[in-house]
Amino acid sequence: MDLIEQIKKNAQANKQRIVLPEGDEPRTLKAADQLIADGIADIILVGPAQKIKDMAVEFELKNIDKACIIDPKDNPNKMKYAELLYDIRKSKGMTMEQAEELAENFMYLGVLLVKAGDADGLVSGARSTTGDMLRPALQIIKTSPGVSCVSGAFIMFLPNDKYGTDGRMVFADCAVTPVPTTEQLAEIAICTADTAKNIAKIDPAVAILSFSTKGSAKHEDVDKVIEATRIAKERRPDILLDGELQADAAIVPSVGSSKAPNSDVAGKANTLVFPRLEVGNIAYKLVQRLAGAEAVGPVLQGFAKPCNDLSRGCSIDDIYKLVAITCNQAIAQKQ
Ligand code: ACO
Repeated sequence: MDLIEQIKKNAQANKQRIVLPEGDEPRTLKAADQLIADGIADIILVGPAQKIKDMAVEFELKNIDKACIIDPKDNPNKMKYAELLYDIRKSKGMTMEQAEELAENFMYLGVLLVKAGDADGLVSGARSTTGDMLRPALQIIKTSPGVSCVSGAFIMFLPNDKYGTDGRMVFADCAVTPVPTTEQLAEIAICTADTAKNIAKIDPAVAILSFSTKGSAKHEDVDKVIEATRIAKERRPDILLDGELQADAAIVPSVGSSKAPNSDVAGKANTLVFPRLEVGNIAYKLVQRLAGAEAVGPVLQGFAKPCNDLSRGCSIDDIYKLVAITCNQAIAQKQ
């Protein structure tokens, strides 16, 4: 069974409640209809209720009446969420008046539903920028215990099964933290290993990448990767992880054995951790475009509860898959 099928089956077997804050966004609404039809998740749509119902009729969607629709401008539970938000943000200077106003904002309301335990996860971003989706989630959901930094992983399906595990690899951080600290880089490596295991269903062999392999170059950026590798290994000795490795030493067996003969990851890495966002973001897009890989994600990792961001160019299928992945993250977090 292919990975997406496994992810769908797992979601169907352990149904989660997923909130889609952009409920009146056409692709999101069409994806919601299919998700409900396939029994992947219980869907909560945030948006103008009448508009959503009219769109469902216009698009001939047969399942939207099974979704829970929450209209942020006509929400009997508004004060519950406003008070929750005020409670979380008052130390940052938020007033009750501001909290009441934000409880009517679709994105804040979606995030607050997850925080309150009224939804198990959130998928958004078909209409909003990454920053607009991430900021409320970072402020309200926050990170899981022991993690200070949210990051974004892509599951890469390569046309060439010579690399990774049968052509499947995980890349991170490709989406969130522009310049991680040394500690954060170690955390990203650990979170990515967990995403590789729980979501991509591969046994992670993690390489923290650099322009140096085992001391071949000297630079403060190399020192950072060496130290992050040390921290990650110390915190999670159960993870097969190594650094600093160049990309070829990480994934090509002959280069790995010549440049890093004592490494148990070199030459067979299936999980690549990049030293900063610009490298990860550029790398995944180049592999996607030049090598013809399918890139599924970003799967956001490190949040206390799963929240995922779509690209504004996403397809209905992208939304569908990311909701199924979000369900799997929620299931994994509850185990
Ligand atoms: N992890 C955890 N918490 C974070 C992180 C992080 N990576 N970044 C910020 N925060 C927290 C802050 O501590 C702060 O919390 P607080 O208000 O409770 O103190 C809160 O989030 C807001 O922080 P700000 O500093 O106001 O947010 P900032 O303006 O730095 O924005 C953001 C954070 C949106 C993640 C920013 O770093 C960003 O834009 N990153 C790049 C996103 C992007 O454009 N990615 C590429 C496109 S995606 C793609 O191509 C797939």
